[in-house]
Amino acid sequence: MASFASFTAPSAATAAAYPKTPQLSAATKPPTHITHHYSSPAGHRRRTRQPLHITCDSTAPNNTPVPDNPSSPTSRRDLLLGLGAGATTALTLDPFSAALARPVRGPSIEACVRATAGDQTFACCPPSFAGVDIMDFQLPSASEPVRIRRPAHLAGLDPVWLDKYKRAIKAMRCLPNDDPRSYIQQARVHCAYCNGAYVQADDTNKGLQIHYSWLFLPFHRYYIYFYERILGKLIDDPTFALPFWNWDHEDGMPIADMFKDTESPLYDPLRNPAHQLPTSLLDLDYNKRQPAVRTKEEQVRVNYAVVYNNMVSGAKRRLEFFGAKYRTGSAVPVRQSSGSCENLHNPAHIWVGDSSRALGEDMGNFYSSGRDPLFYVHHGNVDRLWNVWKTIGKFRFDFDDYDYLNASFLFYDENAKPVRVKVKDCLDNKLMRYDYEERPLPWRNFQKTPASSATVANIFGGEKTANAAEAPAVELTPLTEFPLALDSVVSVSVARPKKSRTAAEKEAQSEVLVVYGIELQGDKVVKFDVVVNDDPANPSGPDKFEYAGSFLNVPHDSMKFATNLRLDITDLVGDIGADDDDELVVTLVPRVADGPVTIAGVRIELQN
Ligand code: C2O
Repeated sequence: MASFASFTAPSAATAAAYPKTPQLSAATKPPTHITHHYSSPAGHRRRTRQPLHITCDSTAPNNTPVPDNPSSPTSRRDLLLGLGAGATTALTLDPFSAALARPVRGPSIEACVRATAGDQTFACCPPSFAGVDIMDFQLPSASEPVRIRRPAHLAGLDPVWLDKYKRAIKAMRCLPNDDPRSYIQQARVHCAYCNGAYVQADDTNKGLQIHYSWLFLPFHRYYIYFYERILGKLIDDPTFALPFWNWDHEDGMPIADMFKDTESPLYDPLRNPAHQLPTSLLDLDYNKRQPAVRTKEEQVRVNYAVVYNNMVSGAKRRLEFFGAKYRTGSAVPVRQSSGSCENLHNPAHIWVGDSSRALGEDMGNFYSSGRDPLFYVHHGNVDRLWNVWKTIGKFRFDFDDYDYLNASFLFYDENAKPVRVKVKDCLDNKLMRYDYEERPLPWRNFQKTPASSATVANIFGGEKTANAAEAPAVELTPLTEFPLALDSVVSVSVARPKKSRTAAEKEAQSEVLVVYGIELQGDKVVKFDVVVNDDPANPSGPDKFEYAGSFLNVPHDSMKFATNLRLDITDLVGDIGADDDDELVVTLVPRVADGPVTIAGVRIELQN
């Protein structure tokens, strides 16, 4: 097993150079006349469209910079360096035992420090809670109107609603920076929970991270719930509902026009300009450096395949859909595994963000993604698909684990009051008085097809039922050579726990492919694909039987961490005719590597 021994922490000199990095200009500028929303690196030439101008006519200019939390002048990375923990923390992949079972009650606000991204640090802590009573969350009254969220590309056609949305976002941009409901404070919520600013309230030695685990869906549900209610409050409209980015439908795949209007408060200058053309469709299989070469029809098909893989075939059970169980006591570098709900959502972050910037702002890094109005609209769709997943088949329930139901977060509500929320109160969105407009699910019965490469047949025998381990034409790396750096295509033969399973056995237990001990820097984009019994020289894309799934890291804090990728391959094995095989040839295909990644191994397990 790889350990932190190989982790080169930033030198003390580097760390010392950044203890008080100035805030991005958005945080310090008066809210009147916001031009050039964020500072650009000197000499940086943007392929810019137009700057955003917001004039806050009714609000007095607020020139007060947002203060750092005075008790936290440094980042956790720096603290860790001071403690030497970076060099000594052992990397354990299965740290949860019954003795540790406690819900994550996070965060400890007092212990909030500067967040990290790349070699910079950022102030993301919320206004101090000192002396303020934190209320326990109460569901809204059943007499409140239900807010109906509509797809952005259709909602934007309604001028009355669009005017409300723009007025609400503008009002949010014009709130004083130290109002917890302000535009920048809302963005900081994500930064603080994702880029290493927080520790767990019940174990301040442990960091808090709401990605790469079962906290992903509930955290973001609450986040946009309060954001939506704040917007409604600012325009005094209790029916106001956010739109959602309906990227699982062909018509919704481009960025909706209202976000591309450079004069609109919904515009964000820090996006990839190449992806805001009228012809740009979101690529759910985005490989960053490979220019999109697909036709519109091909892109739509690939996107439907990716949604199908992550919603239907690759995530039949909770662990693979929601992500790993995360309890207090688990160390922050250990992010056990993201669910397919999160894997499905990752590419949009990288695709929307401005990849010409080192940190990929805004959407391409968790510290800044909350600054783009598209973030909340993207997450609306993720939130909607959580509901859809539960309707798709057996075993598709929310976790009923005590530590899931009682995990908690802190938010500010629409009245600027701090609220402690628990996961158990957000499992039924109708009780939260919002819902989604019904939409067709064109990916629901997606038909995958066999890999077209003729080589595959040569490798695996005419019917591809030969024992893959004996396949002569694939160069196999023995499992004993792991952990290894994934810097080129690697194929490995992996034993199956059971072959020739009956239909009943397949229903009782999924066959799950686990790429484990994926170790990387949190702030680097890394993507690799996983294919099974496929031609390593011509690996299949998401619409093929042989494709199992992808790993993609959205940059967040700058800590090194390890995680796992879990993919349900029950259908895949049948599709490729490998039911009776003892072993499968698993090929890992690096697609983006902005930083090094190592893999500890690959295994196949049966999962209830
Ligand atoms: Cu917290 Cu889309 O991420």
